[in-house]
Amino acid sequence: MAPKCSLGVVAATLSFLFSAASAQSSNQPVEPAEAVVAETIVAGAPLLDVETVQLTDAVVARIASDDATAEYADLFAFESDASVAKRDLPSCKTYPGDALWPVELVWDIFDFLLGGQLIKTVPIAAPCYDSKWGSKDDARCSALISTFGKPATHENDPTSIMWPIFQGKTCMVREGTTAADKCTLGGFPEYALNASNVAQIQLALNFARNLNIRLVVKNTGHCYLGKSTGAGSLSIWTHNFQDIDFLPKYQATGYNGAAFRVGAGVTVQQIYRAAEAQRLSVLGGICESVGFVGGYLQGGGHTPLSGYYGMAADSVLAFQVVTADGRFVTASATSNPDLFWALRGGGGGTYGVVTSVIIKAHPKIDVTHSTFVLGNSTDGTQLVSRENFFKGVRKFFESFPTFTDAGTYSFFFIFNTNGQLTLDMKSFFAPGHTKESYNKLTKPFFDTAKELGIPFKTPQNSTYYPTFFSAYWDAWGKTPFPLGTATSLPGNRLIPKSHWTEPAKFEKMFSTLKAHVENGRHFGVYHQSPQNPQKVDNAVSSAWRNAQAFFITSSPVFAANADAATIASANKVLNEDILQPWRDITPASEFGGSYLNEAAVEEPKWQEDFYGTQYSKLLSIKKKYDPRGLFYATTAVGSEEWEVRDVELGVQTQNGKLCRK
Ligand SMILES: Cc1cc2nc3c(=O)[nH]c(=O)nc-3n(C[C@H](O)[C@H](O)[C@H](O)COP(=O)(O)OP(=O)(O)OC[C@H]3O[C@@H](n4cnc5c(N)ncnc54)[C@H](O)[C@@H]3O)c2cc1C
Ligand SMILES: *[C@@H]1O[C@H](CO)[C@@H](O)[C@H](O)[C@H]1NC(C)=O
Ligand SMILES: *[C@@H]1O[C@H](CO)[C@@H](O)[C@H](O)[C@H]1NC(C)=O
Ligand SMILES: *[C@@H]1O[C@H](CO)[C@@H](O)[C@H](O)[C@H]1NC(C)=O
Repeated sequence: MAPKCSLGVVAATLSFLFSAASAQSSNQPVEPAEAVVAETIVAGAPLLDVETVQLTDAVVARIASDDATAEYADLFAFESDASVAKRDLPSCKTYPGDALWPVELVWDIFDFLLGGQLIKTVPIAAPCYDSKWGSKDDARCSALISTFGKPATHENDPTSIMWPIFQGKTCMVREGTTAADKCTLGGFPEYALNASNVAQIQLALNFARNLNIRLVVKNTGHCYLGKSTGAGSLSIWTHNFQDIDFLPKYQATGYNGAAFRVGAGVTVQQIYRAAEAQRLSVLGGICESVGFVGGYLQGGGHTPLSGYYGMAADSVLAFQVVTADGRFVTASATSNPDLFWALRGGGGGTYGVVTSVIIKAHPKIDVTHSTFVLGNSTDGTQLVSRENFFKGVRKFFESFPTFTDAGTYSFFFIFNTNGQLTLDMKSFFAPGHTKESYNKLTKPFFDTAKELGIPFKTPQNSTYYPTFFSAYWDAWGKTPFPLGTATSLPGNRLIPKSHWTEPAKFEKMFSTLKAHVENGRHFGVYHQSPQNPQKVDNAVSSAWRNAQAFFITSSPVFAANADAATIASANKVLNEDILQPWRDITPASEFGGSYLNEAAVEEPKWQEDFYGTQYSKLLSIKKKYDPRGLFYATTAVGSEEWEVRDVELGVQTQNGKLCRK
């Protein structure tokens, strides 16, 4: 029988030998493990510059023959059938403090081979505490507090995430800490690779796989479920893959037209601006700072243009990706088509590290965008009864199929503020509509509202824009989204079209909505129906294909310093009182479901609810490309075989050892 974790043993014991070797070779620096490749046109377009620097078999051979690194060559080798056969599958990932955790020297060699791009994690809020990372620095701490709600704070940090609860709240940003307050690493990775070329990502995947170390991928850190962090891990930070190449005449299977190759670190705002500059449109979400290529696109990606082009993933033509074996491959209709299928909707952080995508660019489109708030007037002079208010809301909901048939999308809240109900339309977004056609489309609703005597708290205000981006920017782009807090947990539900075609289902849905609002809870709603206008076959969930509306909400609010019992109780209310009535009326068997990207982290039947009818196929693709589970993220395909043994915080966090169940 092969010795358990043979490579780990090798690393731990040989590190002693290496200390002698490195002393000798201190004036003989280790070259970065990378080579510039000759073939730079891949998937019909030039690779990004950062993708032309790769880890080749020749480079791996050089690591094995170079005196300074030879002893460690096994740690950096690609997956091979022989290396697989040699290894047993240990039940847990090697964790800091375990005997097999690599000693500093091994990390140093790794860092040399990475050209110095390895960053040892310092928790972002460390300046607010006296800790092993230094003494408290009040000025830096208060500067951090003032920018903690801004996405850039987290995007520019190698390991920070935007929802600190999933890190385990072990180093919260706050003023006035005393010696009793601790800042520890908790669920942050041990190290992050500040990736600046593909070779480094390949090397890091080989290293983590060969040493059985947990791996995570972080782009912006937006994920609402904590999928971009993990205790005891090595993190691949993709933020600096910032290039966007315009491809005016791109050709691929079934496509001939304008396209972009987009680097993994590009945000929604950046790709929107690049498209606008070419007088074209692309499919992105409503939050400008969300990463375009990471969790958004790989999770499907809903978009204000869904009425015309479906989900954002439907416009992807090719991915460049480093797979679990360390190889850099193309996933497209003609190369690894199964991987291509899975990466378009099957979830981020699961099948490989995507370094760039090629997406279709669609023609310029004009937009009418409008906002309004219905409800009692602020000065209390114009009132509407609850009955009439809900009659108006009902008319609005009944219009959803008409609205989506006309290619429109909206996002609004129904608020209950101390018993005062409002419908707060953040944006009724009507691409391809003039003000006249928008008014015609919405007239029946506004006429009904008028007949019912529903006052406008804020008058309807519609504006026409000649391009998508100009409308988008006013509607959403310029408005900051709240983030950086640990005071609630999200949840959502996709509501199938059958709730509009079958009157009994509509009644059930509407009474569920009313009960939710009358319970004093807010209710976020999108009318949208991505369907499948481009007729693509990919992993976007069957629930999305059948959706007529998307409901979002969150748990009761708790304090940032809430204890585990308080968070557990809010989590229970979310799951049992709020989401369960929604689940009951929209089972997966009838194409109900939940969007994996904005979901409750403890959604009980996440396989069918997040991935729909695609789950079993996704699982087989996961097993093919990542048979030993290098990639883990909570609720990702295949993650049911694993558990994070976290420190109890009332909700599943990433602050604990990752083990097979
Ligand atoms: C304020 C806000 C608004 C939002 N609006 C929308 C919206 O309009 N439409 C919509 O569809 N979604 C929306 N989302 C959800 C968003 O799509 C997800 O949070 C998404 O996962 C963010 O991706 P990221 O790469 O920026 O974040 P990260 O947290 O960095 O990563 C998310 C996941 O993707 C993985 N990942 C990141 N990069 C890569 C890569 N290169 N290769 C492989 N895996 C990778 C990570 O491992 C992780 O599992 C919104 C989220 C927020 C917080
Ligand atoms: C990450 O690497 C880039 C070079 O690719 C460098 O400019 C940047 O400063 C690095 N960031 C950090 C936080 O080290
Ligand atoms: C408007 O205010 C009146 C008086 O407070 C109240 O009875 C009614 O329910 C309110 N309407 C809505 C829709 O909240
Ligand atoms: C209407 O919307 C436009 C664009 O958002 C804004 O500039 C204008 O001030 C708004 N007008 C009113 C009356 O709210």
